[in-house]
Amino acid sequence: MDRIVVRGSGPLRGEVAVSGSKNSALALMAGALLARGETVLENVPWLRDIDTMLEILRALGARAEWQGEGAHAVCIDASRIHNPEAPYDLVRKMRASFLVLGPLLARCGAARVSEPGGCAIGVRPVDQHLKGFEALGAKLRLDHGYVDASAARLRGGHVAFDVSTVNGTQNVMMAASLADGETVLENAAREPEVVELAELLLRMGADVRGAGTDRIVVQGVESLRAARHRVSGDRIEAGTLLCAAMVTQGEVLVAGVDPAHLESTLDKLRECGADIETQPTRVLLRMPERARAVRFVTAPYPGFPTDMQAQLMAVLCSADGSSVVTERVFENRFMHVPELQRMGADIALSGRSAHVTGVPKLAGAPVMATDLRASAGLIVAALAAEGETVVSRVYHIDRGYERIEEKLRSLGADIRREG
Ligand code: EPU
Repeated sequence: MDRIVVRGSGPLRGEVAVSGSKNSALALMAGALLARGETVLENVPWLRDIDTMLEILRALGARAEWQGEGAHAVCIDASRIHNPEAPYDLVRKMRASFLVLGPLLARCGAARVSEPGGCAIGVRPVDQHLKGFEALGAKLRLDHGYVDASAARLRGGHVAFDVSTVNGTQNVMMAASLADGETVLENAAREPEVVELAELLLRMGADVRGAGTDRIVVQGVESLRAARHRVSGDRIEAGTLLCAAMVTQGEVLVAGVDPAHLESTLDKLRECGADIETQPTRVLLRMPERARAVRFVTAPYPGFPTDMQAQLMAVLCSADGSSVVTERVFENRFMHVPELQRMGADIALSGRSAHVTGVPKLAGAPVMATDLRASAGLIVAALAAEGETVVSRVYHIDRGYERIEEKLRSLGADIRREG
């Protein structure tokens, strides 16, 4: 099993481009199920999760493949869906698979998708997705771990989400785009990935308004056509690379991302002492000195992203002073804490908060990746630690970061993968 070996070294310097957004791409791929014809998505990252979604789309009967060798593009032709069922074996690999339920229900009038179940970062129910489908007139039955959904034709409805849910908003928005009449989604998630999916739907001929606000209005249309779309740069990968630059007191230009998607992250990094300049698709960060301690609380967009919590905490472990990190989105997203403690971090957990007292330098240690962003946090910590850190179970990181070690190496990091 692969491991990533990092030796703490000097400041990272140079320019690095981010890949396309994993979470956008996954939702857009599910969206392609809504159209007959070939949808082409460009700037899709080469990641395990994308391969899993391609596999799911093929299991449903769609043609779904990478467009030629070496291209960051996928083609999805969902003209024929012969089997609207997403089996447990695939859904358990990746919760985002549940995003096929809305499009399948709208296209085929019936769908059977395995319940995703819990995962390392929390219970993560799908009740809000289901509440939305019911409001559109779907009949739902839970059967041996599967959601059986049917509706001869969905009709518009009113959905007030009890919690802000990214995939829930996307799932119901996709279903509503082929329903009869108007659907109103209240307390909709405002993440850029919701806006980007709405852009694809508009290009396919849907009538979706208000994406990016907490009230989305969808007028259902009869059918949707295939479209071409370029996936935007991954804001979380960008934030991770910026944290890597910070922790090593480096100077790095991160290209291929919209800084507007990163505002709350950039604000916090500035508060820690980073000098940051933004251009339309680039962010330049200079870190002149040791980071200062900060307080931050994760929240739905435009708040500080939960997907950046571990990486910023890793920076704060060697910051000057005491920080407080509060996780409000997922109930169990502190699994990096015991691993960071193995590296000498001074962290005390109390409920949903972690009190982090910066130490001058962490010490390299063997650590274990527990989930995607936790592993990114461990790599960030290792870049500034004394000596060698060996991160095992790196398959977690391969779910969401394309060639992370090559990108960091190009900035001067001492990092390698061992088979
Ligand atoms: N929730 C419910 N009921 C639901 C849906 C969500 O209670 O029906 C709760 C969740 O348990 C959680 C909160 O609502 O406490 C927010 O969850 P959300 O539904 O927004 O998360 P998600 O859509 O399942 C996406 C990303 C996650 C990211 C979250 C929050 C994808 C594929 N995944 O998950 O990304 O953390 O939004 O921003 O888009 C990652 O990339 O590492 C990752 C976990």
